[in-house]
Amino acid sequence: MPGVEWVELAVRWIHVIAGIAWIGTSFYFIRLNAVLAPAADPAEGVEGEAWEVHGGGFYRVAKYRVAPGRMPRELHWFKWEAYATWLSGASLLVLVYYMGADAFLLDRSVANIHPGTGIAIGVAAIVGGWLLYEALCRTPLVERPGLFAIVGLVVATGAAWALSGWLSGRAAYIHVGAAVGTIMAANVFLVIIPAHRKLVAAIEAGEEPEAWRGVAAARRSLHNNYLTLPVVFVMISNHYPMTYAHPRGWLILGALALVGGWVRHYYNLRHAGRNRPWMLAVGAAGLAAIALLATAGSPAPTPAGASAAPVDFRKVRDVIAVRCAVCHSAHPTHDLFDAPPGGIAFDTAEEILARADQIHAVTVETRIMPLGNLTEMTEEERSLVGRWSRQSN
Ligand code: HEC
Repeated sequence: MPGVEWVELAVRWIHVIAGIAWIGTSFYFIRLNAVLAPAADPAEGVEGEAWEVHGGGFYRVAKYRVAPGRMPRELHWFKWEAYATWLSGASLLVLVYYMGADAFLLDRSVANIHPGTGIAIGVAAIVGGWLLYEALCRTPLVERPGLFAIVGLVVATGAAWALSGWLSGRAAYIHVGAAVGTIMAANVFLVIIPAHRKLVAAIEAGEEPEAWRGVAAARRSLHNNYLTLPVVFVMISNHYPMTYAHPRGWLILGALALVGGWVRHYYNLRHAGRNRPWMLAVGAAGLAAIALLATAGSPAPTPAGASAAPVDFRKVRDVIAVRCAVCHSAHPTHDLFDAPPGGIAFDTAEEILARADQIHAVTVETRIMPLGNLTEMTEEERSLVGRWSRQSN
């Protein structure tokens, strides 16, 4: 399907752009809240103001305690960056993971389930994650942000663990990210924007705006702010098989999400005037510790029982022809691909020999290939490829 990749490109482009705009406004407004100082000549109802310089201009921004007494002629809203991010993300999920379920969503070496079952599990995880979050927001736990964050982190890590028993490692990650992204977009769509509408309506009707609506919206907005760094990690994780394809990938996801939330906390404190550089050092040390533990725990490059006898290259070539070349060929026979994925083809001996190290990395170390183990590569074949690539070095 030649057109599909272009559609995917367009949607991914939009997704990244909208995501940048959304996260940018989140960073900006949370910081603005933190730096507000009492106004020099406060107007009625002004809580504080901030002076800013950007792009050659000086700005003076005032924040009202609940709302201004009277509506300005024009009020600027922030919602489409959130909606566009979610809509494009959901489209990408369908285009990549659901339409290509066999290759991207499932992994035969994890579970032999029907694509429909995999999709149902994925959708259930997203909807279930959001409902659980909404339920937690209705408990007293929400008044204790630290504890709330820990519970959320444990639930997300548990979800990654459960999903990695059904879906490919990469799909398990992306579904945790999609659930978090859904929580964030739903916060905007179902809590924050409706609260803004109610506040505006009250002022227009000449009634007293209800302050609690603003407080509730602010809380969801802060939740979203702490989720930004973890969710961005998940979105870039598919470039890093050492995370999602690790035997304890779910734990790596949880640990990196913790680092992300922690670093976000450092910035929020710093903007509020409490600069604690040691927190950044702890974040960096955490990242280094995760990297060390993850590499220390990775499986031995050559499977046990490997003999030292030289490997006949013709055997390797046959394995690759059967297990890899359905996709990795100048003319793939798999219907998901019109061109060799990643520009990598294994039609000739030279093409295979030139990529010995890469082949070793993806079939023996991370085992992300064959994609979804669609072609059902056996352990013996992986071991054969492992020994061959070692001796060809
Ligand atoms: C079902 C189709 C399919 C099969 C079968 C398959 N691959 Fe891939 N392979 C892909 C796709 C798709 C990508 C690009 C992944 C991406 O961009 O996320 C890829 C990427 C790669 C890469 C580049 C990885 C990187 O990090 O850049 C290598 C190397 C590779 N495959 C080797 C193999 C080998 C060796 C086999 C057989 C043991 C194999 N593939 C089987 C679809 C397949």
